[in-house]
Amino acid sequence: MAGKQYQNVRGTYDILPEQQAAYRHVYETFRQVVIDAGFGFIETPMMEEAGVFVRSVGGSTDIVEKEMYVLKDRGGDDLALRPESTAGVVRAFIQHGMGSWPKPVKLAYAGPHFRYERPQAGRYRQFFQIGAEIFGEASPSLDAQVILLAMRLYARLGITGVTVQINSLGDTADRKKYLKALVEYLEANKKKLAKLDIERLAKNPLRVLDSKEPESQEVLADAPQILNYLSPECHEHFRSVLEYLDEMGVAYELNSRLVRGLDYYNRTAFEFVGARDGSQSSLGGGGRYDGLVELLGGQSTPAVGWALGVERLIMELEARGRQVPTSPGPCVYVASLGEPARIAAFRLIEELLDGGVAAVGSVDRDGIGGQLGRADKLGVPYAIIIGQKEVMEQIVILRDMTTGAQEMIPLKKMVAELRKRYEITT
Ligand code: HAM
Repeated sequence: MAGKQYQNVRGTYDILPEQQAAYRHVYETFRQVVIDAGFGFIETPMMEEAGVFVRSVGGSTDIVEKEMYVLKDRGGDDLALRPESTAGVVRAFIQHGMGSWPKPVKLAYAGPHFRYERPQAGRYRQFFQIGAEIFGEASPSLDAQVILLAMRLYARLGITGVTVQINSLGDTADRKKYLKALVEYLEANKKKLAKLDIERLAKNPLRVLDSKEPESQEVLADAPQILNYLSPECHEHFRSVLEYLDEMGVAYELNSRLVRGLDYYNRTAFEFVGARDGSQSSLGGGGRYDGLVELLGGQSTPAVGWALGVERLIMELEARGRQVPTSPGPCVYVASLGEPARIAAFRLIEELLDGGVAAVGSVDRDGIGGQLGRADKLGVPYAIIIGQKEVMEQIVILRDMTTGAQEMIPLKKMVAELRKRYEITT
């Protein structure tokens, strides 16, 4: 009986060889953009103690409450697959004493993240994020700098029409005052709210603001706005961030309901929204989180950063029909004919590879026509043909696949010859 055929887990996907180029292009472009701006890369583990996320992202956020993959390992520890990376990067920042490094500390990362969400186009249970975080400077110029960094990346990738939605969440005291006003308003209009939002109102009222429930929208339209509750310092900070963005001609929209789905933000919060409609139009998001390092047990350290969804970037590239650079295929196909040529061809392929020449070929296949056909499909510039006679004479045929021209070259000189033609010097 045939065994069970397994499928990938719902909400995950395989990245097949032909899809690699787009991912590589995004990662390479990201790498270049952040390295130029002085970032160093960090890789944190895909799992952390669950508490890292519960404390930072917030126990009553959807991400922690409904979407986080939590598991007990065999030692009884509560672990979580990272739903995002900021918390883990902050954990690493504290653990490795980065507070004493020259400021600002700039860290970039890329990797898989996990959220138990309802899968749909652009929304997965394992998805890839690229991110950038800056620690140690409270200046509003840094908020603008990280926003410009993301905009530069979009521009390099050829993704146009991205807007920045931006808001200020103030500091703890501002939010307390604002929350009081918001709760009073929402309580007074409770009957008109969706059931889910009535629950949110009791647990984490700010979350009601990013509600997608249609019934709640009308109530929210007239809700108090946080920008009217900012302290003079937070107001000034926000004004200054916008001034930098204006200076650079960044298209932003003030969105007083933008609170983001994570609790650690203060002051500036922003989201990058693509030109296309739909619930998955958020190409990335971030903000300032000046209290997080201290919350996780470190010295008070201001910080700001963002993360972008790689699948959504790739969807944008595809929607625009952007061609991404592909890596070159093999340089040469070795075709062999008859038994004595088999070993010689086998040997030559390995020697070419040792010499840094990308060579392929199959020694157990008959028919020169079929082999050259395969070489053609692979798009190799050259094919080497070894037959019985060639083995005896130790001379092989080098065929230019574009012109069909053939030359005879001594077998022993083949590797050197191709290295010369491809200018391989290593
Ligand atoms: P986030 O808004 O939760 O922020 O996620 C950032 C981006 O990741 C989203 O805008 C979206 O593009 C992508 N994303 C999120 N969930 C999914 C999913 N299920 N499938 C596909 N893509 C997804 C954060 O994660 C914060 N750590 C960002 C940050 C960094 N804030 C400060 N520093």
